[in-house]
Amino acid sequence: MSQDAELFIQQLLAQMTLEEKIGQLHQVSPGGDFDLNLLQTGQVGSLFNADGALTGQGFSKSSSAEQINHLQQQALSARLHIPLIFGRDVIHGFRTIFPIPLAQAASFNPELAEQAAAATAREASATGIRWTFAPMLDIARDPRWGRVAEGNGEDPYLGAQMAAALVRGYQGDDLSAPDRIVACAKHYVGYGTAEGGRDYEGGEVSEPTLRDVYLPPFQAAVQAGVGTLMSAFIDLNGIPATANHHLLTEILRGEWGFDGFVVSDWESIKELIAHGVAEDEAHAARLALHAGVDMDMVSAVYHRTLADSLAKGLLPIEEVDQAVLRILRIKQRAGLFDQPFTDPQREKQDLLRPEARQLAREFARQSIVLLKNQANLLPLQGIRRLLVTGPFLRARAELFGTWTPDGRGEDVTPLDEGLRQHTPRTTELWFADSTDMALHMAHHSDAILLLLGEHPVRSGENGNVSDLRLPPGQSEFLAALAELGKPIVLVIFAGRPLALEKEIPLANAVLYTWHPGIEGAAALAEILFGEAAPSGRLPITFPRRTGQVPIYYNHKNSGRPVGSSDLFITRYSDLLPRPLFPFGYGLTYTQFSYNDLRLSSSTLRKQLQVQCTLTNCGTRPGSEVVQLYLHDRVGSLTRPVRELKGFQRVTLQPGESQIVTFTLTEEQLAFTRSDGSHGAEPGWFNVWVAPDSSSGLHAEFRYEG
Ligand code: BGC
Repeated sequence: MSQDAELFIQQLLAQMTLEEKIGQLHQVSPGGDFDLNLLQTGQVGSLFNADGALTGQGFSKSSSAEQINHLQQQALSARLHIPLIFGRDVIHGFRTIFPIPLAQAASFNPELAEQAAAATAREASATGIRWTFAPMLDIARDPRWGRVAEGNGEDPYLGAQMAAALVRGYQGDDLSAPDRIVACAKHYVGYGTAEGGRDYEGGEVSEPTLRDVYLPPFQAAVQAGVGTLMSAFIDLNGIPATANHHLLTEILRGEWGFDGFVVSDWESIKELIAHGVAEDEAHAARLALHAGVDMDMVSAVYHRTLADSLAKGLLPIEEVDQAVLRILRIKQRAGLFDQPFTDPQREKQDLLRPEARQLAREFARQSIVLLKNQANLLPLQGIRRLLVTGPFLRARAELFGTWTPDGRGEDVTPLDEGLRQHTPRTTELWFADSTDMALHMAHHSDAILLLLGEHPVRSGENGNVSDLRLPPGQSEFLAALAELGKPIVLVIFAGRPLALEKEIPLANAVLYTWHPGIEGAAALAEILFGEAAPSGRLPITFPRRTGQVPIYYNHKNSGRPVGSSDLFITRYSDLLPRPLFPFGYGLTYTQFSYNDLRLSSSTLRKQLQVQCTLTNCGTRPGSEVVQLYLHDRVGSLTRPVRELKGFQRVTLQPGESQIVTFTLTEEQLAFTRSDGSHGAEPGWFNVWVAPDSSSGLHAEFRYEG
C-alpha cells in the first residue's frame, strides 16, 4: 500500500468520533424500515442487499445503480463523507449465471474461473455493487453438507488454484478499476468439517489437517491479494471461528500478513451467545473484535455495545481503531473515496453481454463430467427418435443452482429448447412430461434421454440431506424405463455428488452436469450430439452409498489398509471398500494413453522434473486433465495415500502425442508436523502421473533433505 494512502486513512481516523468509528464496523442488510438517518450520520460502513433500503420510499426499482448511488449520496452527506461499500452474494455469476462453484472446479481450469469472475465483476459493478461474498473456499469431505455445491470440492491443491484465480478475476490488478469488485474469501475456516454434514454444526480437526487441508485455499487467496475474508459460523475445536484469535489474528495477519478486513457471517457475532462462549451481546462483540472480526454483518452488536464496553474500560480503543483502519484501507484501495458512484449507463451495456454468455457456455462444457459411455453410445448418432423425459425437461432457473439472487429464469434457454436447437435434423425429439407418457412413448423410440437430479433448493446453505440417493421416485422411473431395453443416456443435475450405485448400471451413458448455469442446456445439447466433447473431472469423491461418507481420496492408510490380504481390513462388511468414482475421474469421447514416465533424477534436490508422454489413441479430438500425485512413504506423521500436486489440461488431435512435464519442488513435499513445524522429511516418495486419483503410471524417488 502506498504511503500516501496509508497516511490518508490515518488522518481520516484521527478526525473520527467514536460513533463514526463504530459506524464503519456496522454492516446492514436493510429492510423496508431502514432509517436513512443512520447513513447521514455516519453510523453504517457497508450495506448489502441494498435495494431493501428504499422499499416503501417511492424510489424507482428500475435501476439498481441509481438506488445505490442515492444511498451513497446519503452516506456522503455525513460529516466526514466516508463512502459505503455495497456488498452482495454474487457467488457464481450476477445475471449471467455460470456453473455452480463445484462444477467450476470440475473443469480443472482456473483460467476459465478467472475469466468468469472478471465477467461477473463487470456485471455486478455495473449495478453499484463493489464487494462480493465470494469465493467460498471451504474444503468439503462430506457431500451431505449442502454447501459442498458452493466450494471447490475436497482437494486443497485444486482449491488453492481456484481460489487464487477467482480472486484475480474479481479484483484484477487494480481494485479501483470501476469494473472490478472486492472479493471475500469465506468461510474462514473449517466450515466444511460440520459434523454429519449438518450446516452450522461444530467440527473438530487437528492443527496439521487444518493447516494442510483446510487453510491452503485461504492462504492462496491472501497471497493473491484478496481484500476481505468472512469468518465462519462453525464452532471449530471448541472455539467458534468468529471468536478465534489464533485463526483470525495469529495465522491470518501474523503469519500471512493479511492487511484487509474480516467481516463476520450473518449474525455470527451474536451467535457466540448461543454457542455458549459469550454471556451477552457486549461480551460477544468484545470476543469477536478482539479475535480479529472487523465488521459485524447484520447482528448490530458492535453498533449497540462497543461504546459502552469502551466507557467501562472493557475494551482498548486500539482494537476499534485497527478495525476501522482495515475497512478504510479496503475502501481506499477499491477507489471509493475518488469514485463513490456508478455510472448508471453501464447497467444497460454490461449485463448479459454475448461474450459473457459464450464464456458461461464454455465453462458448462468443460465442467460436465462423463461418468460412463458403454459402447460409445455418446455422442448420439443415427438415432431416429429420441425420447426426452425427466423432471428437468422444462428446467430454466433450476439450471442455475444455489445462490443466484440476481439470475432470472427468463434469461435461460430451457433444456427442451436447447435440445431442439442442437439436434441434428435426422433425429426427431419426443418430449414426455410425465412418467406414464414416457413409458408409453419409450416403446416407439430408439433411445431415451433421461434428465434426473436434485432441485437447487436441495443444496446450498442448509441444504443438507441424510440420504444421498436421488429424490424419491426418480430411481424407480429409471428402473422402469430400463426394463424396456432401449439405450438410456442418464443426465444428472445436482449440487453435490449423489450416491448412484444402483442407477449407473441401468444407464448406458451417464453425464453429470451439476447445476450448469445459464448456458447449461446448450452446452449439454452440444455434448450429447458431439459438437463438443465432455472434459470435466470429479473434484470430489463419489460414494457408493450415503453410509460410506466421509470418503475422500487423500485419506491416511490404516494399519490394515484396503488391499492387504487380511480379512480384518478397513471396510464395511456390506460394501466394496472403494468409491463409486474416484476424485479426478472423468471420460471423454476419445481415449488417452500414458507412456514413458521419466524422472529427471532418482533424488529430489530442490526440485525434480516428472515427465510422461500422453497420446490421443482414439478417433476424435479431446482434452485430458493430466494429474500429478505424490505419496510420502514414511513421515513423522502418517501421510495421505495420495495428494494432488499438479494438473494440466491438454488437448490433442487423434494420433497426436505430447510430452507433459511437471516440476516437483521441495515445498510440495512439506507438511505440518504435530509440533506445528512445517517441512519435508527425507525418505522415499511415490509419484504418479494419472488420469484420476486411483490409477496412473508410478515411479519413486528419494528426498535427502
Ligand atoms: C451465508 C454467507 C452469506 C451471508 C450473506 C450467510 O447466511 O453463510 O455465505 O454470504 O449469509 O448473505
